[in-house]
Amino acid sequence: MAKRILVVGGAGYIGAHTAFALGRAGYDALVFDNLSTGRREFLRFGRHIIGDLADRGALDDLFSENAFDAVMHFASRINVGESVADPGKYYRANVADSLNLLEAVRDHGVKHFIFSSSAAVYGLPQGPLTEGHPFSPINPYGKTKAAVEWMLADFSAAYGLKYCALRYFNAAGAAPVASGAKIGEMHEPETHLIPLVLQAARKGESATVFGTDYSTPDGTCIRDYIHVCDLAEAHILAMQRLMSGEQSAAFNLGGGRGFSVREVIEAARRVTEINVAMREAPRRPGDPDTLVSVNAKARTELGWEPRYADLEYIVRTAWDWERERSRSLTFEQS
Ligand code: UFG
Repeated sequence: MAKRILVVGGAGYIGAHTAFALGRAGYDALVFDNLSTGRREFLRFGRHIIGDLADRGALDDLFSENAFDAVMHFASRINVGESVADPGKYYRANVADSLNLLEAVRDHGVKHFIFSSSAAVYGLPQGPLTEGHPFSPINPYGKTKAAVEWMLADFSAAYGLKYCALRYFNAAGAAPVASGAKIGEMHEPETHLIPLVLQAARKGESATVFGTDYSTPDGTCIRDYIHVCDLAEAHILAMQRLMSGEQSAAFNLGGGRGFSVREVIEAARRVTEINVAMREAPRRPGDPDTLVSVNAKARTELGWEPRYADLEYIVRTAWDWERERSRSLTFEQS
């Protein structure tokens, strides 16, 4: 019988891509999502239940009615600026609700747990970003991710839960058109660079560059963009590793190389064949100049090899999705 996996937050951007990948790999995925930020139209991969992590009764019902071989936990608020303005919302959604889930997992005897962590746990880089880099988050969002990693370590020590914390760098791109998945990035409000640049291209507007005086070769911030399908693949590998009896661990998930904001905009110009204008704006508070992963541990211990490392490919899949999404928006409005 297919192994049954609970995908919490499976109606979100990365969760939906992983639910899709799980189905294709022969797993029985059950998505649990409250649709606070997830999309109803992404609930197409396996069964789903609309429910909230704050509702311990709903979790008990879910775990009583289903024996899960693993839980993947994607549900999270992710807007750094909002986390600074409204930290309570972040501690409640990302920490308190995760604790509810962890206690249910403990009480119902689930053995394997995969957690969506973030490079934000490291804060400002003090050296190469290996998994051993100290935790020094600089905003409530990053602190909530660090807090859940600490909870996981303590639950692992006390109750024997096996977990992987996957520290994403900049998730980007979308499932290729040929996959037929029709899912992609869709945040409201959108704050991420690639979708904003592509929306600007589609609407004939200019892209905003936050800061041109960083100590980087072209003065703009450098980030490590990793294709969402590569992230999905890493979740399955991390889960299989735990199921094979390996110990709990944390892994950086990034491509291991950085691209500047200007390079991303140039890639978007090539892909869209639209000469998107750049508008220079002041720095966005809290942005470190460079965030690039050391991904050797995921490569060696998970056998993970990012397949879609090419920036232009990442932007192309995001552009295909942007056009698909805008077509359905036009359709809805007409
Ligand atoms: N940027 C622009 N113009 C825009 C949007 C972004 O110049 O319109 C710049 C940002 O200043 C930054 C880079 O593009 O230098 C990337 O910004 P994103 O918002 O796309 O991504 P972040 O690196 O800020 O965020 C990522 C994840 C977050 C996570 C954060 C910290 O997407 O979920 O890293 O690890 F919280």
